[in-house]
Amino acid sequence: MNRTPVVVGNWKMHGSRAANASLISGVLSGVAPRGQRSAEVVVCPPFVYLADLATMLEQAGVGLGAQDVCTEAGQGAFTGEVSAPMLRDVGCTHVIIGHSERRAYYAETDEGVGRKTLAALSAALTPIICVGELLEERDAGLTYEVVGRQLEAVLRALEADPIGLSGLNRCIVAYEPVWAIGTGRTATPEQAQDVHAFIRGLIQSRDARIGGSVRVLYGGSVKPGNARELFGMPDVDGGLIGGASLKAEDFVAIVAATQ
Ligand code: PGA
Repeated sequence: MNRTPVVVGNWKMHGSRAANASLISGVLSGVAPRGQRSAEVVVCPPFVYLADLATMLEQAGVGLGAQDVCTEAGQGAFTGEVSAPMLRDVGCTHVIIGHSERRAYYAETDEGVGRKTLAALSAALTPIICVGELLEERDAGLTYEVVGRQLEAVLRALEADPIGLSGLNRCIVAYEPVWAIGTGRTATPEQAQDVHAFIRGLIQSRDARIGGSVRVLYGGSVKPGNARELFGMPDVDGGLIGGASLKAEDFVAIVAATQ
C-alpha cells in the first residue's frame, strides 16, 4: 500500500504576525516546490492567524489546519466557538481534533471527538484525529485499551452517521503518546510501530481497504534527529510536530526525513 506521508506542524498557542511571517517564509523556502515534495505539508497556527496565512499557503500547496473545531456544524449561540464551515470559509483544509491537551485541559471527551470529526468531514475539512495514552496508562499495560477506546468512539460516530465508515478515507489519525509530548522523551520506533499497527489493524477489522490506506502519523518529541527512524517504520506515515514546527529549519528537516 502506497501512502503519501504527511507532516503537520502544530504551533499550539505560539506565534505573532511578525513571527509567523518569518516562520512561514523559512518553511516555504526550505521545502521542495509543490509537486516535488516527498510529503504533504500542513501547518496549524492559532485560530486568529488562519485567515492571514491562507492565500500564501494555498499558493505554495501547503495545507492550513486549525487546532480545534466546534462540535456544532451550523451557526448559533455557542460563544467562543468556531465552526467547521467557518474554518473552511477562511481557507482551512485540515483540523486537529482531540489533541491530548484539549482532552486534558478542556474536558474534551471521546464522544466529542467523534462529533467534531463529523462536523469537520461535513465541511470538507480533513480531520487529524489524535489518540494516545498517558504514562500511567502505558505503565499499567493499558495502551491498546485506551487508544482502542478513543478510536472506537470515532468509528462509532462515523458508522452511526450517513457519512459512514468510508469517511475515514478522508481522515488522518495521529498517535501521540501523552508522555512523549513536549517532554523530549520520544517513543522508540518499535513502540510507535506497535501502536500504529494496532490502530491500522483495528480499522482493518472493520474495513480492510480503508485500514490499509488511512494515514497514521506519530507525534511526540519528533525532531530532525529522530524523524527518519520513526518515519521508516512500516505503519508510520509521517508526523504531527509540536515544538520542532516552530523552527523553520527543524520543520523542513523533518519534512525531508520522509524521503
Ligand atoms: P511535540 O508536540 O512535538 O512538542 O512533542 C507534539 C504535539 O503535541 O502535537
